[in-house]
Amino acid sequence: MQTSACIFDLDGVIVDTARYHFLAWKRLTDQLGIHFTEEDNERLKGVSRIASLDIILEIGKVNADENQKHEYATRKNKWYVEYISKMTPDEILPGSLAFIKELRNAGIRVAIGSASKNTPMILERVGISELFDAVADGNIVKRAKPDPEVFLKAAELLDIEPQRCVVFEDAVAGVQAALNAGMMCIGIGSPGILKKAQFVISGLNEMNLMKLRILENEIRS
Ligand code: BG6
Ligand code: MG
Repeated sequence: MQTSACIFDLDGVIVDTARYHFLAWKRLTDQLGIHFTEEDNERLKGVSRIASLDIILEIGKVNADENQKHEYATRKNKWYVEYISKMTPDEILPGSLAFIKELRNAGIRVAIGSASKNTPMILERVGISELFDAVADGNIVKRAKPDPEVFLKAAELLDIEPQRCVVFEDAVAGVQAALNAGMMCIGIGSPGILKKAQFVISGLNEMNLMKLRILENEIRS
């Protein structure tokens, strides 16, 4: 079965925003007296804002009620938005634009499937809002990855069956979400970490349509 659509996670696949998340969480954890490291930050990849906060509070053994949690998450997001509002098109990861344009020229539909509520702002800042046929993000889904909701929603918006979609993902929870959606998944990162992805590359600069066709034949047959 041939691929009719490609769905891209945003953070870590098309742009590298993990460092901005880290800087913003670090400002919050410094204020709360929690020791938070870049290694801890790895655990937050693909994880929703509120679930990330829960992990951080657990690391710091800090208790907070719902109101406090809401205030902490809002504080962190304010700083995060300050960082991403300064992003430029130079921050698009190598190979992403060329691959997405190649797909579009071949009639393959493209969508974003991201947990981030800041997706529209990031797409706008790096100048690629017009590149996607659909955007499924944290503003329209309720259940976080590994729940398949965000990818199923993207497929629905594109009007393409899940079995004809390929997901590109850098997070373990995101790979699982793609598989739960019944989609083929190409991991972006390390094969040792993204063990369940059907194929892993280090970045979209290693991908092109011919390679995708070869992979889908091997994986879907
Ligand atoms: C994901 C990131 O894409 O979006 C996570 O990998 C982040 O680190 C999540 O927590 C939610 O992002 P936001 O922008 O809604 O806080
Ligand atoms: Mg990601």
